Amino acid sequence: MHVVSVVGARPQFVKLAAMATAFERAGTTHTIVHTGQHYDPNMSEVFFADLAIPTADVNLGVGSASHAAQTAAMLTGLEEHFSALCPDWVLTYGDTNSTIAAALAAVKLHLPTAHLEAGLRSFNRRMPEEHNRVLTDHASDLLLAPSRVAMDNLAREGLSGRAVHVGDVMVDIALLVQRGLTEHPVELPADMEGEFIVATIHRAESTDDPDRLAKVVRALAAMPVPVFLPAHPRLRGCADRQGLDLHIGALRVIDPMPYRAMVAAVTRARAVVTDSGGLQKEAFVLGTPCTTVRTETEWTETVDLGWNQLVAFDDLDTLAEVALRPTPSSTTDMPYGRGDAADQSVAVLARAT
Ligand code: UD1
Repeated sequence: MHVVSVVGARPQFVKLAAMATAFERAGTTHTIVHTGQHYDPNMSEVFFADLAIPTADVNLGVGSASHAAQTAAMLTGLEEHFSALCPDWVLTYGDTNSTIAAALAAVKLHLPTAHLEAGLRSFNRRMPEEHNRVLTDHASDLLLAPSRVAMDNLAREGLSGRAVHVGDVMVDIALLVQRGLTEHPVELPADMEGEFIVATIHRAESTDDPDRLAKVVRALAAMPVPVFLPAHPRLRGCADRQGLDLHIGALRVIDPMPYRAMVAAVTRARAVVTDSGGLQKEAFVLGTPCTTVRTETEWTETVDLGWNQLVAFDDLDTLAEVALRPTPSSTTDMPYGRGDAADQSVAVLARAT
């Protein structure tokens, strides 16, 4: 079996780390195509090095642009490489512009296409990720779903026949890295000690509206404990353009963290505050309470189990109270699997080849 993985943005590299190892274990021929959507070393290379992911075989180097221009550049580049590689499967990951570009380029060439992390829905059609997920699921031949909720969403859209519940590969990697930290500890910022919060804010919904971003920054700065903010380039860019100072109050702005350091920081943190999908789930798996600055989440199980609470932009004056709520009692529920999702995904791909 020959599988071509297409990745481009930071959370996809984490998922790829789990899949690349599982493909290697199974003796699968695996080609990695990086679209170049993320190109800063600390958004891309650092993840490949930190998680020992094989170097991408191809990098399209598309970089940043509007949604249409970026996706179009990916489509053109991917079509050429897919035609030459002619794999048994094109495997797409998550919900970025790289995901929809790969799915579309593959189906047009009649190449079997599988979507990892299928079936997630926020039901918020203003999110670019929601368009990417829905369209990718409907275009793909095989849907690898991370949870029962995702399977139910796919069933509602008439896609059950193509869907298989495999668990979430991000759990595989988060648990593996957390276990490895005892033997191979990572260095964290010297002042990351005692009670602190880890926060990330990067989604267009949070950053692109100046009033909204100012509100989020003010609420984080007013926290009674230090708030470490590994800043995504979109956040820095928007804050600069809006003349918004991020170095105020409790905020400690730092560079985006490599994955292992992020896992160590989240494990040690008193709480997480984020608008990221992946981090909500990682906080849950690593046992740290999370507060999500959004009106909805795709990872509803984290909320149902008491480990994640949503705070809407209009309710940010409650952020400190919600974020520093008592840590919930631990749960044995593992709605995203027990850490073998990547092996299960490889087995499903092999059976369907
Ligand atoms: C993308 C995904 C989002 C995912 C996120 C993870 C889409 C539509 N969104 O959002 O789902 O959660 O990745 O980080 O695909 N930039 C740099 N250097 C980089 C990358 C980006 O400076 O290496 C800046 C550029 O100004 C760019 C902006 O960040 O315009 C946004 O980058 P982009 O890739 O368009 O989307 P993300 O916000 O990263």
